[in-house]
Amino acid sequence: MDILAIGSYINSIEENKTLYEERNFDKRAEAIDFIEFHIIDQLQNTNYPHELLLLKDKAEKIKAELEAIDLNLFKRLQEEIRVGKYTGKGFKAMINEYVDIDLNDTQHQQEAGYDNLDVFINGLITLQSIPEQTKELEPEMVYYQKTPARVVFEMAERIPFTQDGVFFDLGSGLGQVAILVYLLTGVTVKGVEFEPAFCNYASDCAVKLNLPQVEFINTDARYADYSQGTIFFMFTPFKGEIMQEVLVALQEESLKRKIKIITYGPCTAEVALQSWLNSVNLKDNNMYKLTVFTSC
Ligand SMILES: C[S@@+](CC[C@H](N)C(=O)[O-])C[C@H]1O[C@@H](n2cnc3c(N)ncnc32)[C@H](O)[C@@H]1O
Repeated sequence: MDILAIGSYINSIEENKTLYEERNFDKRAEAIDFIEFHIIDQLQNTNYPHELLLLKDKAEKIKAELEAIDLNLFKRLQEEIRVGKYTGKGFKAMINEYVDIDLNDTQHQQEAGYDNLDVFINGLITLQSIPEQTKELEPEMVYYQKTPARVVFEMAERIPFTQDGVFFDLGSGLGQVAILVYLLTGVTVKGVEFEPAFCNYASDCAVKLNLPQVEFINTDARYADYSQGTIFFMFTPFKGEIMQEVLVALQEESLKRKIKIITYGPCTAEVALQSWLNSVNLKDNNMYKLTVFTSC
């Protein structure tokens, strides 16, 4: 982009008053993204002409103003979540006021893709800077990567969650899946996470949003207590022997009551080999599509 194009883009953002209206989160997210990657990042060289550096300063100021609107919005919504204003359909409807939730997008994805819904959910339920990993993972344990928020919304829509059931996220990372499932369904949720720093962070997020029905347990999933679990979610947290040990523990639970295992990502293929599980929607072979297994 040349100086004229950058200048006219910045002016158009500054003059576009709709971007400064709280409800236009989607448009604001696109503008912030553009300013960050196509203007500020491109103008890092301090030897650029003075005019360009002035434009960069202006872009940074506008970006900060737009981000401040989002911060205020999240603060207000967090307070409303704290007092129980949004659960279930009310929570989804509230999100839909700010971000377009078109769940059809998840059907054809070939990888874990993120979008504005993730940006919104990050701002809403993650409350402080992300902690570093403190424990070394064993070779069969998989590093943290979050499930796209859109996939969690799809799961909440497709699976009949009953209020007497308990949802487990195995390898719950920073807690987003568990917190979202609770907010979208009202069901009791538990996250099991090997990394203590992630587990503490997730617990802090739940406490700050005043969600006592959301619990995070810091343990290896092989040794967790699943005696209350009815629905178990896995976004490929581990593989090989560890996966087999966890599946044996879940099979034992399935002898006492029917359970569901929902998978996302490459672990679907390993779970699909279990003869004690029936599955739906395995035919199209897309691992980045939710697969639901039910115990026989
Ligand atoms: C791919 S991430 C999924 C995170 C989260 N479930 C989500 O979807 O956003 C896998 C997580 O599993 C955790 N993990 C790996 N092995 C584990 C084990 N044996 N027990 C519990 N957690 C484990 C990792 O620390 C990591 O946070």
